[in-house]
Amino acid sequence: MRIFSVAALLLACTLLITLPSPSAPSPSPSPSPTQACHSLKFPHNQAYATCNDLLRLNSYLYWNYYPVNQTADIAFRKPKTPTSNWITWALNPGGQMMAGSQALVAYQDPNGNMVAYTTPVSGSPTMKPGNLSFGVTNLRAEYSGGEMIIYATLQLDSTLLSTNHVWQEGPMRGGSPRMHDLSEDNMLSFGTLNFASGTVTSSSSTGGGISSKALLKNVHGILNAIGWGILMPIGAILARYLKVFKSVKLFNSVHPAWYDLHRACQIIAFCLGVAGWGIGIKLGSVSRGINFSKHKNIGIALLVIAAVQVSALIRKPNPNHKYRIYWTIYHHSLGYAIIVLSILNIFQGFKITNGHNYWKRTYAGIIIALGAVALLLEIFTWLVVIRRKKFEATNTQEIGANGGHEVNDASTNV
Ligand SMILES: *[C@@H]1O[C@H](CO)[C@@H](O)[C@H](O)[C@H]1NC(C)=O
Ligand SMILES: *[C@@H]1O[C@H](CO)[C@@H](O)[C@H](O)[C@H]1NC(C)=O
Repeated sequence: MRIFSVAALLLACTLLITLPSPSAPSPSPSPSPTQACHSLKFPHNQAYATCNDLLRLNSYLYWNYYPVNQTADIAFRKPKTPTSNWITWALNPGGQMMAGSQALVAYQDPNGNMVAYTTPVSGSPTMKPGNLSFGVTNLRAEYSGGEMIIYATLQLDSTLLSTNHVWQEGPMRGGSPRMHDLSEDNMLSFGTLNFASGTVTSSSSTGGGISSKALLKNVHGILNAIGWGILMPIGAILARYLKVFKSVKLFNSVHPAWYDLHRACQIIAFCLGVAGWGIGIKLGSVSRGINFSKHKNIGIALLVIAAVQVSALIRKPNPNHKYRIYWTIYHHSLGYAIIVLSILNIFQGFKITNGHNYWKRTYAGIIIALGAVALLLEIFTWLVVIRRKKFEATNTQEIGANGGHEVNDASTNV
């Protein structure tokens, strides 16, 4: 019977994973004719003939190109940039990556002055000032209305007219630029650019399939946050704190209510979690070049531990069996490990998709609320247990030798 229900559970979850997923990414769409960059004003009403919305990291690039002397006046602007961050925009004839790029960097110093300088980025970026492979004049930066802007005039040559560009944002610490995040936006903020024709592309993985991938990502996040992140802790709370009401039963179940509720909650949580996990694997396979190995490894560990937890149900000893206590310890340890890892990994997920602060705060609020409920229930449970013990102690004294009387404390199991 028990083996049958575990098998049915696994089958149901497998069916959930294999539900049709949104269609494969379509080829890159052409750049939208209505780009937001056109409507943004510059602090000193500077005008640029060409502009482009860069799809990653909420940035914009503007320029005027002069064929007579092959120079370009550029402006790279990044709205909503905290003054504790540095920004950079770079050309890289060598490839679509930060390493080897010829970069313009800007940040705000502790006195509130904007600093702008050039740095040739080597294999391991030091971000130390240095000369670039091409001439840069009129380099300066500005901070206005939460926006950081880099201005420069670039002396281009034929190899630089149509090339790759990269942009980035990261934190300042101790007066120098530190490593940027490894979120998807940070890893895909590159593309190609043609100063003469005005065409700009973003990294191939950004082009098509944005909507279907965003949909997958949202479904992945919602299923996992609800399954692993909310229902599993609730299931554990139900088991731990409803146990004191040992005689309460649902309908005509042979088990106590806490057991039925705990089991139902964890089965639903596990199914949602497995489905969300499957979508995560699918997402990983269509997000080449993005580094989220920590999120992935914790996710794999979680599924393995949860599968062990589920399979342990098959070999659950009877309540009176002498090994039952070990099974219980094991079941509890795995359960708590799953909850801790789940919450950790959900926050890892928020880190990858930066800019989802609303959902991150919402989830953090739910976890804090669940923690507060658990704390209150813990106190309540101990009060009940202590009162019950006292009551039983006085009863035993009054009635006399009523040995072998079982105390229903919170660790009694079914
Ligand atoms: C390049 O040519 C343009 C247009 O004639 C001019 O406005 C600009 O000052 C020149 N730039 C340099 C660096 O000579
Ligand atoms: C950069 O170039 C300028 C002028 O060409 C030169 O004076 C300066 O020493 C160079 N800086 C470095 C770090 O090479």
